Amino acid sequence: MSPAASPVYDPLNEYKPLGPDIGIVDGPLEYFTTAGVRIPLPFSTRMTVVRLKNGDLFLHSPIAFDAGLAERLRAMGTVRHLVSPNQFHYAHIGEWARAFPDAVTWASPRVRARARARGVDVQFKRDLPMDPPDEWRNDIDQTVVPGGYFGEFVFFHKHSKTLMLTDTIFNLEPDKIGQPWRFAAWLTGMSYPNGGIFFGMRLPLLLQKRKTRAAVDKMLAWEPERIILSHGRCFETNGSAVLRRVFV
Ligand SMILES: [Fe+2]
Repeated sequence: MSPAASPVYDPLNEYKPLGPDIGIVDGPLEYFTTAGVRIPLPFSTRMTVVRLKNGDLFLHSPIAFDAGLAERLRAMGTVRHLVSPNQFHYAHIGEWARAFPDAVTWASPRVRARARARGVDVQFKRDLPMDPPDEWRNDIDQTVVPGGYFGEFVFFHKHSKTLMLTDTIFNLEPDKIGQPWRFAAWLTGMSYPNGGIFFGMRLPLLLQKRKTRAAVDKMLAWEPERIILSHGRCFETNGSAVLRRVFV
């Protein structure tokens, strides 16, 4: 990594409002491990926080627990929903659940098995349903992007017209990553400003054309303005145009 390249989105562990009742918190760097091997690519982590109209907070892809952040959130509302949108973004839900024992932990497909296999201490109370549950249906809609192993639930905050993606689209800023990852991100079409579908999802999406089409149609019908991503720079405007460029 070049000396100037920092994949971190400072400041960390601070709530950054993006619109009414919605914001993000950027967290520390983490490493992906597979088959017990740590891949030497640090990636940034990001959580989305939505305050529902009833005052409950919906935490999407919670970052590592931080006591100061928890206090900040406590002042905003009741930490109620801890959501793992896919089987990769779950590792800190147990930490938040221990601090907020009344919160509901929501499982994505295969996440329980993954947590068990890796010895991550987390108990999931509910499974994410295909349609939004009563707890947040007035504020947030949802669907599933069928990426096979990488499949994920995606969410739409109606009031702010914000689409919340996790790993479906990467938009990695070249200045923030070193070689060879910078070249790899460019080569695979996942570089800012024209980030695209995570390369690991492309074949599964092609193989499940009908389900993919249904998910894309649903996301387009929402007419999102902003798109929040877990990795890279979010799209602040023209979300629908981004979806059409990437998927259609
Ligand atoms: Fe991810």
